[in-house]
Amino acid sequence: MTVHLRRLTRRFPGRPVLDGISLDMAPGEFAALIGKSGSGKTTLLRAIAGLDDGVEGEGIVRVPDGRSILFQDSRLLPWLSVLSNVTLGLRTPDSEERGHAALVDVGLSGREDAWPNELSGGEQQRAALARSLVRHPELLLADEPFGALDALTRSRMHELMFRLVERYRPTVLLITHDVEEALVPCRPGAGHGSGVGSFSTVPLPCRIHGGSLTPPSNGSEVNY
Ligand SMILES: Nc1ncnc2c1ncn2[C@@H]1O[C@H](COP(=O)(O)OP(=O)(O)OP(=O)(O)O)[C@@H](O)[C@H]1O
Ligand SMILES: [Mg+2]
Repeated sequence: MTVHLRRLTRRFPGRPVLDGISLDMAPGEFAALIGKSGSGKTTLLRAIAGLDDGVEGEGIVRVPDGRSILFQDSRLLPWLSVLSNVTLGLRTPDSEERGHAALVDVGLSGREDAWPNELSGGEQQRAALARSLVRHPELLLADEPFGALDALTRSRMHELMFRLVERYRPTVLLITHDVEEALVPCRPGAGHGSGVGSFSTVPLPCRIHGGSLTPPSNGSEVNY
């Protein structure tokens, strides 16, 4: 398993937000987690990313070191060029080459020397996508990465992301409250009911099989 969580609990003063969440994700799996605003999606992502040391319970048993996070805003550093943002922290001899290739992948070839504020919102998110994939992460955690974009751009970003996921093959956890966004990939779990940290299985006939993002004809039930 790439991700293995057992009975993860996170309480903020006065109330639990995550209450005994368990999750297994196999290598290369693409899971979408949907839930209403305030149901604890970002809290869960932060816990999985290792950004929150307040989690309790058995906690995270295994999450790979090679992980990238894609946030709702691009979080590009304004004082660095687009290429330097993409390759920031990448310490390989071919980092620049890889950065160029990732920018080609996201359709930003030729914008290497631009400043982030010279890019449109969608272009900034594409640069952020390049930055997360250039490291060939084992796990990609995406927290409503296209939520701030208009519907048409968002739909194009979905296509782009899924195409690149097929190429780079990370395990992906896409967090969203947009049902449409969640239905494109596979295996959604839904935040429901009282909403407080309650995520449950929603079996859908949609799963990555044999390296393809095409839903299988028979469908498959998954546990979440
Ligand atoms: N550091 C914190 N201290 C106190 N409460 C917090 C903290 N972080 C999050 N919360 C609370 O936990 C709940 C879940 O927050 P979270 O950000 O995980 O929701 P979400 O599902 O990502 O919502 P959205 O879809 O709006 O992004 C919210 O009620 C929020 O106020
Ligand atoms: Mg959130």
